[in-house]
Amino acid sequence: MIGGGPAGYTAAIRAGQLGFKTAIVEKRGTLGGTCLNVGCIPSKALLHATELFDEASHGFAKFGIKAEGVSVDLDAMMAHKSKVVGELTKGIEFLMKKNKVTYIVGAARFAGPDTIDVALNGGGTRTIKAARTMIATGSDVSSLPGITIDEKTVVSSTGALSLAKVPAKLIVIGGGVIGLELGSVWRRLGAEVTVVEFLDRITPAMDGEISKNFQRILGKQGFEFMLSHKVTGVKPTKKGATVTVVPVAGGDEKVLEADIVLVAVGRRPYTDGLNLAAAGVATTERGFIPVDAHYATNVPHIYAVGDVIGGLMLAHKAEEEGVAAVEIMAGQHGHVNYDAIPGVIYTMPEIANVGRTEEELKKAGIAYKIGKFPFTANARAKANGQTEGFVKVIADAATDRILGAHIIGADAGNMIAEVVTAIEFGGAAEDLARTSHAHPTEMEAIREAALGVNGAIRQM
Ligand code: FAD
Ligand code: NAI
Repeated sequence: MIGGGPAGYTAAIRAGQLGFKTAIVEKRGTLGGTCLNVGCIPSKALLHATELFDEASHGFAKFGIKAEGVSVDLDAMMAHKSKVVGELTKGIEFLMKKNKVTYIVGAARFAGPDTIDVALNGGGTRTIKAARTMIATGSDVSSLPGITIDEKTVVSSTGALSLAKVPAKLIVIGGGVIGLELGSVWRRLGAEVTVVEFLDRITPAMDGEISKNFQRILGKQGFEFMLSHKVTGVKPTKKGATVTVVPVAGGDEKVLEADIVLVAVGRRPYTDGLNLAAAGVATTERGFIPVDAHYATNVPHIYAVGDVIGGLMLAHKAEEEGVAAVEIMAGQHGHVNYDAIPGVIYTMPEIANVGRTEEELKKAGIAYKIGKFPFTANARAKANGQTEGFVKVIADAATDRILGAHIIGADAGNMIAEVVTAIEFGGAAEDLARTSHAHPTEMEAIREAALGVNGAIRQM
């Protein structure tokens, strides 16, 4: 395995379990990849901490709790984040040992189709001969032409996870997942946040109704949005940086000032330094490694999984692929159901989705039915004071089979799992609607939305 992220380490564990003699090469110095080190986990630690702060500052009064003088110790908050990351990455190292996987700390480079040279972090080179190689080198930050990310004033997600102080003014370029999650972190800590998005809505791949509501809710939280604007330049200044934007449709240029600029316009496949040419592995024009249904590249004994092959750039998608690829190598029936991969944005409220959006179904000419249920009508959400959002279940008009689900809600990320399971089992909206749900739980909103698909909502 080249790369110790969710794709590589999960594949290595499965390979160890299946009896393959396995080595994992990782150059970062710690296992866990982007996700554990500078992605999923540190961002969630900061999202949770700042959510608690926000709640204690503004949300307790309605429950009759008086919290005065609530303040933030940013260093302690960052220390919590680092402790969690440290413990989890060490945990992965333990899992390598437990599954008899050799962990090699260094940068891998193909010397030929079967030979990999590793420039060891500790000095020297180790050459490995491998009957099969799996490329799981992930992705890296993309930037825009003419913008230099210095990770101090002009930062990527990595820099935005470790700012030394709360910026008075943060400009986020890109209204996608990273921009809105990390924008939320700093907004809650007091930064003024403006999101500049090229397209006419935030989270453009999401169901349109969800995007619209999400933007409205974030607006209430103090986010400012400049949609349909493109950034033409970012210049560092003495105090921070200036960001030049112009409307996409044409019009006057505006110059915005910021203490910190977060560039969050997507990620690119990462194959730098791998010397793929020596192995004869092909890439697409955008640098992704194309694979067949068995995750083999154009060189049959070299496989690739995770962010580097494209598709959804999500840790759990990368893990599924790593496991499936190894199982296929072992002659088993590894498989990834791409219709049942959930996506979650861990803001407050959370956004969660699985399957198709209304826009996709309309485009594909598939007739569908919708059931929706708002959290304002859910007893538990009311008791918890978390009534923002709704559940939307989409089912095939003819067969009632569930085609997608989209949730905005405080616990949407956990809730979506029920619909993912139902889709995995080929379930219909009626299956969800006839399943007993504990009362009072937010999960009942899924059942009500599923009942709504066939016009039978009970609790509203
Ligand atoms: P990576 O995790 O990128 O791992 C690849 C590893 O390969 C890296 O550690 C790299 O150092 C190593 N490597 C590269 N080249 C070499 C080489 N030549 N030799 C040795 N090692 C090499 N996804 C979610 O599902 N949920 C989330 O909440 C979430 N939050 C995120 C938040 C942020 C800020 C970011 C940036 C991403 C987030 N993601 C999230 C996406 C997630 O991190 C990725 O989808 C996931 O890490 C991809 O896993 P991977 O194993 O394919 O690649
Ligand atoms: P993204 O693809 O989610 O969003 C990028 C946004 O930038 C899009 O809305 C796009 O239209 C906009 N954009 C592109 N070029 C622009 C320009 N020139 N000017 C203004 N806007 C522009 O990418 P993001 O947020 O960088 O995240 C990268 C990846 O990391 C995502 O694919 C995501 O899957 C993963 N991730 C997942 C998380 C999760 O699962 N909770 C959290 C964070 C990241």
